[in-house]
Amino acid sequence: MGRRKRKPKFVENVRLSGIADKGRAVGRDQGGQVYFVEGGVPGDLVTVHVQKKKKGVPFGKVEKLEEPSEERVEAFCPHFDLCGGCKWQNLDYDAQLKYKTEYVQSAIKRIGKVEVGEWEEILAGAKTNYYRNKLEYSFSSARWMTEEEIQSDEVIEDKKGLGFNKSGTFDKVIDLNTCFLQSERSDSLRNWLRDYTRGTDFEYYNSRSRKGWLRNIMIRTTEKGEMLILLSLAYEDREKREQLLNDMLEAYPEIVSMYYVISDKVNSVTIDLDYHHYHGKDVLTEFLGEVEFKIGPKSFFQTNTTQAKALYDVVKEYADFQGTENVYDLYTGLGSIALYIASDVEQVTGIEEIPEAIHYAKINQEVNQIENATFYTGDVKDILTESFVEKHGKADVIITDPPRVGMHKEVVETLLNSGAKKIVYVSCNPATQARDLDLLSEAYSVKKIRPVDMFPHTHHVETVALLELN
Ligand SMILES: C[S@@+](CC[C@H](N)C(=O)[O-])C[C@H]1O[C@@H](n2cnc3c(N)ncnc32)[C@H](O)[C@@H]1O
Repeated sequence: MGRRKRKPKFVENVRLSGIADKGRAVGRDQGGQVYFVEGGVPGDLVTVHVQKKKKGVPFGKVEKLEEPSEERVEAFCPHFDLCGGCKWQNLDYDAQLKYKTEYVQSAIKRIGKVEVGEWEEILAGAKTNYYRNKLEYSFSSARWMTEEEIQSDEVIEDKKGLGFNKSGTFDKVIDLNTCFLQSERSDSLRNWLRDYTRGTDFEYYNSRSRKGWLRNIMIRTTEKGEMLILLSLAYEDREKREQLLNDMLEAYPEIVSMYYVISDKVNSVTIDLDYHHYHGKDVLTEFLGEVEFKIGPKSFFQTNTTQAKALYDVVKEYADFQGTENVYDLYTGLGSIALYIASDVEQVTGIEEIPEAIHYAKINQEVNQIENATFYTGDVKDILTESFVEKHGKADVIITDPPRVGMHKEVVETLLNSGAKKIVYVSCNPATQARDLDLLSEAYSVKKIRPVDMFPHTHHVETVALLELN
């Protein structure tokens, strides 16, 4: 006997009042029960479709908008309802900034319980659209069908789709006509590629049957408008590949660097495979201020170039370098902060666990003829030892930019004993930053915090905190 399907549960008159974890709206029904709601805006009165319960608290999505919030706006992307990439497009941008600020402040107060000398105003995105420099689109022979397509009597033969995976699925792709995340030329290139290949024998991949040829396309762009392309194919077909790549180059002369990769892997990750260079330069050139970065198909680079510079400028301002400092840049990635500040300090040492990232850090160091930076590969907790400090000298300023999980306890301990006058803590997760600030408060005071919006229309927020030795 099959499992009985549960009747969907709808709850009317839920008044949303704020933003909770993962950008969901939070509110209460008339009996005072709390709900976490996808697609809601604080101030809305909604009917909630309850989808699951966690620790007794219902989670769901907006089924019906009974009364819209004053902060609600019309989402500008036609794929908003399906895509899930820019979930806050229905929230006015000023309100987005307000809720990001509140979220950071609440985490620091609730979890960190630390005194903050000064809360600085959130730094808004210089661009709220077309701000990403890298996107990846998937090809699928079984695109996600829209409600109208499913209802229509028309027989749909061509089910090819090129776009983003529908959230929660690995094989369904939303066929995009527009995306506001990368430059308009990148958008145009994706549509050109789809029109070029649709109705032809250029087969799109199917992740379920593992059949088909075209798998993914990655597009990197620079502020100047140059492009790097990486096309991922399930198997080699030289004739077709050259035809497609040559025609793409003719249509998009701004592609200055082109690669392809052959992957028969089950998943779509290709970073461990050899990329074949097909055309043009090996790398793109991007600038953060005066510092030049060479960015290849496997490079790690902040995805919002303009705002990365703005973020690093806050770091610089907080550190207030005098030119004499010995600096550690922990979790340095491809050394972008270390290289950006190198000319303002005496010496900077970067630590990062991914060897490829350090490989690019060193290339970029050479390109910029920076002589006062040194990079190490490994876990910060293992590298930053007493003997390391003996060798590199006591740090005057420590910059730390850990991943979402925050810093390891042992690293916090090392920082507490470091004697560094200042710590500049950059974070993409206010909750773990709050926890670490609390631990660091044994020896440091939080002087200032500034949230930075790197990803408009999403709930993500970065923060920079300045700590000074007591
Ligand atoms: C938030 S990113 C910061 C990157 C860089 N500061 C930037 O602005 O582009 C965090 C970095 O820490 C690295 N990482 C994560 N855990 C690490 C660890 N335990 N030790 C060293 N690096 C680590 C990740 O690979 C990633 O490059």
